[in-house]
Formats: sequence, structure tokens, C-alpha cells
Amino acid sequence: MKFYKCGSLKGEITIPGDKSISHRSVMFGSLAKGTTEIHNFLQGADCLSTISCFRSMGVDIENRGDKVLVHGQGIRGLKKPACILDCGNSGTTTRLISGILTAQDFTTTLTGDASIQKRPMKRITDPLSQMGAKIRCLNDNGCVPMEITGSPLYGIHYSSPVASAQVKSAILLAGLYADGETSVTEPYVSRDHTERMLSQFGADIRTEGTTAHICPARELYGQKILVPGDISSAAFFIAAGLIIPGSELLIHNVGINPTRSGILKVCQAMGGNLTFLNESYDKGEPTADILVKSSSLSGTTIKGAIIPTLIDELPIIAAMACFADGETVIRDAAELKVKESNRIDVMVRGLTTMGANVQETNDGMIIQGGKTLRGAVIDSKLDHRIAMTFAIAACMAEGETEILGAECVNISYPEFYKDLERLQ
Ligand code: S3P
Repeated sequence: MKFYKCGSLKGEITIPGDKSISHRSVMFGSLAKGTTEIHNFLQGADCLSTISCFRSMGVDIENRGDKVLVHGQGIRGLKKPACILDCGNSGTTTRLISGILTAQDFTTTLTGDASIQKRPMKRITDPLSQMGAKIRCLNDNGCVPMEITGSPLYGIHYSSPVASAQVKSAILLAGLYADGETSVTEPYVSRDHTERMLSQFGADIRTEGTTAHICPARELYGQKILVPGDISSAAFFIAAGLIIPGSELLIHNVGINPTRSGILKVCQAMGGNLTFLNESYDKGEPTADILVKSSSLSGTTIKGAIIPTLIDELPIIAAMACFADGETVIRDAAELKVKESNRIDVMVRGLTTMGANVQETNDGMIIQGGKTLRGAVIDSKLDHRIAMTFAIAACMAEGETEILGAECVNISYPEFYKDLERLQ
């Protein structure tokens, strides 16, 4: 797909539902008693993989587009699937479902696409095995395909070496079925949607600092969930609005959970003009409309505790930093190497090909802003966030940019290109 430099972006936009929250609403709804009604569910390929996995385990899920109805089977109600569960491209589906499957009274095999078959699963199989889980990586490489045989689980305390909500959530979900309390401590707090939503479904779960504790549950109860707009998708329009001169965008109903909203702090630290309107709080997840006005930005340093709160936004932050004055340093972000692609490598290569001054480091990158970017051919590596990042960079680059595999945005934001075009 080809992209060209564009003029200012103007108008209003409503961003599709949050991917992390959409996944969890289907998973917890499947384990609950009664019906869970989900509004603004993200109809992206990743969340559809979650629906399909739970349908294969006997859960009746009506996807009506504007709303999804999950007719829960109760906490012990999943059935052995007749086929291998295909998690597609979705790390969240793979890791969270694994936590649930460790406690079922059947054996399941999980797999996914070429990218998911390379992503590390040892980070979940280690703690789940400590709880008593029986998991076998069929290729002996610490990745899916993985066979999980349900077994009795023990409550543990786990100190995770990585700040990862997927790891934390897999352990907490297994903890629902353990013989006593389970807790997970992280180096820094990662997104807390599991904790917030499981509590809404009736689980006994609490957080103290960087530790989340859960007690075994007898039952969860179906809920009505209003999924906020995904800040990780809004991030592309926030960045575009700031860097494209003369832009003014009003982005409606964005989730601003503090464990997700690091990008907003970074934009403000860089001098970005953001105004928050209509702040509200619906059963656990805060939202706001965000008014973005183009701004002259300066470089900043991003490291430490803020990293997990903007981990998926680092590609677009790196692109934005190319248009800021001075140096931007991203550190403590080695996790980027094990996302849908190696996002440090892919970002550094792509931005360099476009003429930016970017240096790779072992846990991030250093960007010298202020160089004019020129169009180039960019391989998205079928990573949705990379494709969207370079589509925004292309709006500011001289000449033509071609993005290979651009259609991969269907993972998290199927209408992205249409929305971008409409605002021009
Ligand atoms: C997610 C957690 C993050 C994030 C991913 C979604 C989740 O991964 O990158 O896109 O829904 O829990 P990690 O928890 O592995 O950092």
C-alpha cells in the first residue's frame, strides 16, 4: 500500500475498542455464570481469535457487531475442544488462555501463526509449572504449539523477572483454580485490566504496590462491559495530530487507565498540546476525550517504570521523536524485541531507511530529531503497530512510502487507513 505526505489533519474520531479489555471480557464472560454483554468490542483479528477459541470449548458467543453476548458456562464449564486451538497472531489469547487451560479436566493443544510460534512462552510455562501445571512445548523450543493437560494447582508467590500483564494475568487466572492464594510481583506495574475486570466479575483479587493477589473463586458472574477506545490505537492519531503542522483532532472516548497512559505523559513532557475533556469512569476503566493540537516538540528520555505503561506505543513515539528538536532516548525497553516483531530492529531499520538519525541500543534506541524524512519501501513484518507507525511517518515524509503487508492492521484497527484518509 502506498502513502504520501499530507496536509493538516482535522476533525473528530472515535477509536475502536481496547484490544486488551475486549479479550478479557470474552475470556472472563466465558468462565462466568450468566450472560456477559460487551459493548464496543474490538472486531479485530486478535479478539476474534479469542472468541473462536472459547466457542471451540463449548461457549455460546453471539457476535452481533455492535455488541457481543457471551453465554458463560461457569468457572468449571469449559469443554474439551474437538480441534487444536488457534490463537492466530495474538499473544494475549495464547498466554491468558494457557493460565485457564492448566486447570481444566482435559488436554488441549494451542498454536498460532508464524509470529506467535516464535514468541517466548517460557515466561508463563515456568510459573504455571511451579503451580503444578502440565505443559509441553511440542517443538521443545519454549514456544507454541503447546500441549496443556489440566491438573490440580497450588497457590504460589511468583516474582516475575519481566513487567508483563500477559504473564501476570496467566498466573492470576490459574490462581482462580488453585488451592490457596496466588500472588505475582512485577518489577514495575504492568496494565491492570485483569485485576479490575476480575474484581467486577466477583473474584477476590487485590493489588498492593507491584503485587497482585488472588484467591480461588467458586464462581464468577456475568457483567455488562463498555469497552473504552484503545489508547494504543488512539496513539497514532495523537502523534499525527502533534507532528503534522496545523492539525487539530478531537479523539473521543479513549481509555486513560494510568497503567496504559504513559504516552500522554511523554507527549506532554515533549511539549505536546493535549486537552482532556469529558473525563469519566465506568466500572473500573477511566476514559476521556482528547483534543490534540499540533505542537513543536522537544526530545525526552523514556525509561524505568513508565515503560510498561506505553510499551505498545514506543514505535509511534520513536517516529514522533524524529520530528522533535534534540535527542530522545528510549531505555529499559528490551521487551520490544519479543513483540509481534522485533520492534527495536524494525523501527531502527525503517526510520533509518527514511533518512532519520536513529541508533539502536541493547534495550531501546536513541533518536536525533530534526532530519527531513523521505519516502521509502518499509516491510511491516506483518506487525500491525509497525504498519500504522510508518503510515503516520509517511504523512510527514517527502515522496512516496510503500508499506509491505499493510493489511496487518486488521489485527487491532481494521478501519485505520479509512480513518486516516477521512481526517486529511
Ligand atoms: C497485553 C500486554 C502487553 C502488550 C500486549 C497486550 C495484554 O504485553 O504488549 O499488546 O493484553 O495483557 P506484555 O504483557 O507481554 O508486555
